[in-house]
Amino acid sequence: MYEEAVSRLASARSLAVITGAGISAESGIPTFRGKDGLWRNYKAEELATPEAFERSPSVVWEWYDMRRGVCASAKPNPAHFAVADMERTIEDFLLITQNVDGLHCRAGSKKLLEIHGNIWKARCMKCRSVFEVNETPLKENPVRCKCGSIARPYIVWFGERYEEGILERASEFLSRTDFLIVIGTSGMVTTPVWLVQIADKAGAYIVDINIEPSLVTGIADHFLEGKAGLVLPEFWSNAKSKRH
Ligand code: OAD
Ligand code: ZN
Repeated sequence: MYEEAVSRLASARSLAVITGAGISAESGIPTFRGKDGLWRNYKAEELATPEAFERSPSVVWEWYDMRRGVCASAKPNPAHFAVADMERTIEDFLLITQNVDGLHCRAGSKKLLEIHGNIWKARCMKCRSVFEVNETPLKENPVRCKCGSIARPYIVWFGERYEEGILERASEFLSRTDFLIVIGTSGMVTTPVWLVQIADKAGAYIVDINIEPSLVTGIADHFLEGKAGLVLPEFWSNAKSKRH
C-alpha cells in the first residue's frame, strides 16, 4: 500500500537505493533491454567482453566513446536529484548503482558504489592504474596509460568478476538496512537481484519503481509503477515531509 510505504520511509533510520538503467532513461540515455535497448542493436559479445577488447581495442573504445558522447550531453533528472537529497536527509545511506554514466555523482550523490564501473574512467592493462578520461571524442584510440601501455574502459564486462570487496560492502549494508528502494532495473543481471534478496531476508521494507513489472517486483513489498523522474520525487517528498 502506498501510504504504508510512505510512512515506513518516513521513519526509516537507514536507507539503501539500488539503481539500474531505467533511472537514466528520462535523461536520454538508452537502457539495455527495452524496445530501443542497446543490446537490441549491438552484440554484447563483440563489445562488452575481455575477448572483444583483446580482438580489437579500438572498436570497443569507439563504441564506449559513442556512449560517452551521449552521457556528456545528458543531464541528471529529478530522480537522480531525489536520490541525492535522500543521502543528505538520512545519515545511514548507501546508493548501489549499476549505471556507468556518472549522472548520480553529477546530481550530488557521494555515498555510492558504482558496481559496474564508470564510463569516464580507464584502467591500464599493464600497471592496472585507474584514471579519468574526460574528453570525448577521444584524442587517442585506444586510450593509453602514462606508463605507455593500452588501457581499457573501467567497466565490468560479461564474464568478469566484480571489483574486489565491492559486493561485500553492498551486502553488508543491505543485511542491516530497514528500507530499500530499487529503481529502473530489469533484474536480468542476477547480482542486483541477489542483493535485493539479502535485504528481503534481513527484513527490510522494499519498494520497486519501474514502468513495468521486473524480476524485482515479486520480491518487493510495494510496486510503484511509473517513470522514475515522476514517481520517485513525489514519493520522497511525501515521506520527507512526515519525517521528524
Ligand atoms: P535494463 O535495460 O536491463 O533494464 C532497464 C529497466 O528500466 C527496465 O526494467 C525498464 O522497464 C526500466 N525503465 C525504463 N525506463 C524507465 C523509467 N523512465 N523509469 C523507471 N524505470 C524505467 O538495465 P539494467 O537492469 O540496469 O551492465 O541492466 C543491468 C546491466 O545490464 C547494466 O548495468 C549493463 C547491462 O549489461 C554493464 O554494462 C556492465
Ligand atoms: Zn599503466
